[in-house]
Amino acid sequence: MANIKFFSGKTTPIEMHRVRIIQKLNLLPIEERQAAIKRAGNNTFLLKNDDVFLDMLTDSGTNAMSNDQLASMAQADDSYAGSATFYRLEKALRHVFGMEYFLPAHQGRAAEHVLARVFVKKGQIIPMNYHFTTAKAQITAIGGGQILEIPVKEAFDIESTCPFKGNMDIDALKQAVAKHGKEGIGFVRMEAGTNLIGGQPFSLQNLQEVSKVCRANGIPLVHDISLLSDNLYFCKQREAACKNMSIHEIAKAMADASDILYFSGRKLGSARGGGICTNSKQHYLAMRELIPLFEGFLTYGGMSVREMEALAVGLIETLDEDVISQGPQFIEFMVDEFVKHKVPVVTPAGGLGCHLDARGFLSHLKPEEYPAGALASAVYLISGVRGMERGTLSEQRNEDGSEPIAQMELLRLALPRRVFTMSQILYTVDRVNWLYQNRHLVGGLKWIEEPAILRFFFGTLEPIGDWQEKLVAKFRKDFGDSL
Ligand code: F0G
Repeated sequence: MANIKFFSGKTTPIEMHRVRIIQKLNLLPIEERQAAIKRAGNNTFLLKNDDVFLDMLTDSGTNAMSNDQLASMAQADDSYAGSATFYRLEKALRHVFGMEYFLPAHQGRAAEHVLARVFVKKGQIIPMNYHFTTAKAQITAIGGGQILEIPVKEAFDIESTCPFKGNMDIDALKQAVAKHGKEGIGFVRMEAGTNLIGGQPFSLQNLQEVSKVCRANGIPLVHDISLLSDNLYFCKQREAACKNMSIHEIAKAMADASDILYFSGRKLGSARGGGICTNSKQHYLAMRELIPLFEGFLTYGGMSVREMEALAVGLIETLDEDVISQGPQFIEFMVDEFVKHKVPVVTPAGGLGCHLDARGFLSHLKPEEYPAGALASAVYLISGVRGMERGTLSEQRNEDGSEPIAQMELLRLALPRRVFTMSQILYTVDRVNWLYQNRHLVGGLKWIEEPAILRFFFGTLEPIGDWQEKLVAKFRKDFGDSL
């Protein structure tokens, strides 16, 4: 991390890159934003990007690429079989993780699909630190397995000083192994930078302890490294044993503890694609035949060769602390600003984005009025910033039709890596602080149309009452003719 001190004594994270290609942004007046969020059924997934000012929906496929990544695309070798591009990507992965075999896939969930088919049998349990939506769906729908979430107890504390909320509870893992045995467990899954609890990391030590239990019992340890870059940064910052290790040494130690790595290249490596790495020839052969069946030939796996070139360069760049620190440092800055203004936010700051606690923010709303969805809608309305609901709306209804109230009710403001500048962060913080002062004006949402599966993607909702009109009127009163 760049050690740059300010004369003022304040420390502000500094971009260790310069902007060389830009995309013009559009900030609509609030009345037009009100019309846009209505057209989108109060679902930020359904907003058109032209109606969005700062797109903080996700970091998936939206990270800024480096000049070297863009340049590498020109040498992409477009051949169906035996492409030189594939061997360059394979070489980069071998260099970073020291794993012998690589299977390409078009994105992270495609890798999860292959893993679920090969390693999950009906009725088996998959213990994990926490689920990700697509991983859970593949394990249950394709593999017929069941997930078992066993994070440490601090995982769901909104306010915490625990540096590794993504750790797995080792005793709970041992109990699961004792109860279900090797035969009853498909694999154990560890997710780096645990997405749905606020981008929270696990420690290298915890991963090694999980690995020890797995290896003693002959159970494969599958490691989702989609958000590894943030996790590596946090290990270096927060774990005493990693202080004197290079980022590459930490990455290697994590790979050594794992049997299978898989990733979404839309996050890791700041390109688009995915894949699976392993040192086990047996695992490799078991998965190999599914790649041509579902993804594409073994030397591209559904990826564009241009993206594969960019991924190879992006992976190597992930070993540079100046590259991987930008996201977490900006997120920490944002979280600190919210803490100063008493805005409820997940602490400590994680990777991926800043996570507002909608339950605390809109404590006057009932859980069935979807506080995180209402907050996503309100934040867009008053700022043009698009976040993602990560709460009850993102869950599936129970079979009896009742609403499963989510463990955490969050609004994620993702910071795609190297995309936003400090003034854009300050703008977002300022608008959200204003909203917090006016939170009593924000009401809930109710369904217009609720799809049966993955309802958060396509569902449409409407405000309960006229709270959006009142919010627009208050905005105009306080901000005059400002956009
Ligand atoms: N694993 C993790 C931890 C993820 O965050 C994601 C995607 C996937 C797997 C699936 O990868 O999208 O390439 O198929 N997360 C995105 C998000 C969608 O917005 O957080 P994919």
